[in-house]
Order: sequence, then C-alpha cells, then structure tokens
Amino acid sequence: MPHCNLVILTGAGVSAESGVPTFRTDADGLWLGHRVEEVATPEAFARDPAKVQGFYNARRRQLAEVVPNPAHRALADLAARWQGRLTLVTQNVDDLHDRAHADVPTGPGFSLIHMHGELLKARCTASGTVCDWPDDLAPAEPSPFHPAGVLRPHIVWFGEIPLEMPRIEAALAEADLFLSIGTSGAVYPAAGFVRAARAAGARTVEINLEPTKGRGVFDDGVYGPAGETLPAFLADL
Ligand code: OAD
Repeated sequence: MPHCNLVILTGAGVSAESGVPTFRTDADGLWLGHRVEEVATPEAFARDPAKVQGFYNARRRQLAEVVPNPAHRALADLAARWQGRLTLVTQNVDDLHDRAHADVPTGPGFSLIHMHGELLKARCTASGTVCDWPDDLAPAEPSPFHPAGVLRPHIVWFGEIPLEMPRIEAALAEADLFLSIGTSGAVYPAAGFVRAARAAGARTVEINLEPTKGRGVFDDGVYGPAGETLPAFLADL
C-alpha cells in the first residue's frame, strides 16, 4: 500500500481541533458570521475593500494563535514514509499543513496544493504576482509589482477558479486511494473529486466528524474527531 498513488483532500475540519473555526456551523447559514457575498467575492472587494481586507486581516492574525494538531502531524508523518505519489490538496487557507510538514522530511512524490489560496500570501490585482504577506493589508495596499495594482488576499473567492486544477485533475486520474478529510463536500469543484477518483478506479474513504451528505459516494467512512481517528487510520495504511 505505501507504494500506491494517494490523493488526500482536506477541509476546515482538519484545522478545527487547532481552534480554526469551520465555515458551515451556523444554523442561520452565516459563513464565519457573515454573508458570503459580503466578504468572499470579487464584487465585495470592489464595493467595500476595507471590510474584505479587515475580515481576512483578522483571520491572518489568528494564525499566530494556533498550531498544527495531531491530524496535521499524522499526515506529515505519512508523507515522510510514503513511497508512491502523495498529493495533499487542501481547501484550507491556513498554514497548518505547511508548518506540520516543515518539521519532517518528505519524499519527491509529495506535493501540497492550496487550491483555495493562502492567507499568508497577497496578490497584485494588475500583474497577478503573488508574494508572502504575513501582516495586515490596507484597504488599498499599493502593489510593489505594478503601478496600477493593489494587493488583495491570495484567496480564491466565490466565482473564481480554484488554483492548480490541472495538477489536481492529473493526480486524481492516477489515484489508487482517495481520502476526503474534514470537508462537508458543499463547495465544487472539490466536492466532485471523489467522483473523479472513483472513475480512475481508486478506493475512496470519507474521514469526518460525522457522515456528510455525500457519504454514499464513498466506499468507506471513518467518523470522529480527525485528531483522534486519523493517526490510527493512517498508521494502518
Ligand atoms: P465546512 O465548514 O463546510 O465543513 C467542515 C467539515 O468538517 C464538516 O463536514 C464537519 O463535520 C467536519 N468537521 C468538523 N470538525 C471536525 C473534526 N474535528 N474532525 C473531522 N471533521 C470535522 O468546511 P469545508 O468543507 O472545508 O472556501 O469548506 C469548503 C470551502 O468552503 C472552504 O475552503 C471555503 C468555503 O467556502 C473558500 O474560502 C474559497
């Protein structure tokens, strides 16, 4: 098994035990206390850049207060021993996978893809240049890359195309095993990865606090807090 091609999709549930809030927890349908279109769309940024930057500044600052949990560390340990290709695709914009993986060596078959962007990066609206950005962004942060640009969060907003889709699709097409960990499966295209993996003949496993609406598409399910279930599940692979 450690030689097969593995694709792992993670979502907010993986970071929940670190204290990073998940998205769809409010019964009233709010998204981290806001309507999505107020803070996570290109239209919102055009209309009220101070509000959007303030929302992401708060989330960026919060990263200083959280650390990787046993789920992140178990995935990093797996990457250290995995002999085949291991593509870890995260929808999370925090840097907790990055920090966990920085502590252990990873083989040449490993890659980490932040398909929804990264809080600790900013992007020039004119040139598209991406840079590290650990601090707050001003409402109209001047871009060092283009005189007509400003820096925006390097986050995929609703209505925008997720990053690195060709690489992800290529990995799914060759997957032998697909794990979906801590994601509700509410947002496409990530929610469709399980079907692409199945079409490639992969075994598919959902790992979540509880079965999601998409449970029926997976071959197997493992339920409970990921920080508790994942170390044992991955150790057995
Ligand atoms: P959601 O908030 O939609 O779902 C979180 C999932 O994690 C739920 O299915 C929970 O049951 C599960 N969960 C919570 N705590 C857990 C734990 N301790 N262990 C295991 N599972 C747990 O978050 P995502 O599916 O990640 O996009 O949301 C996908 C995307 O929606 C996000 O990336 C974001 C948002 O729009 C962008 O920002 C572009």
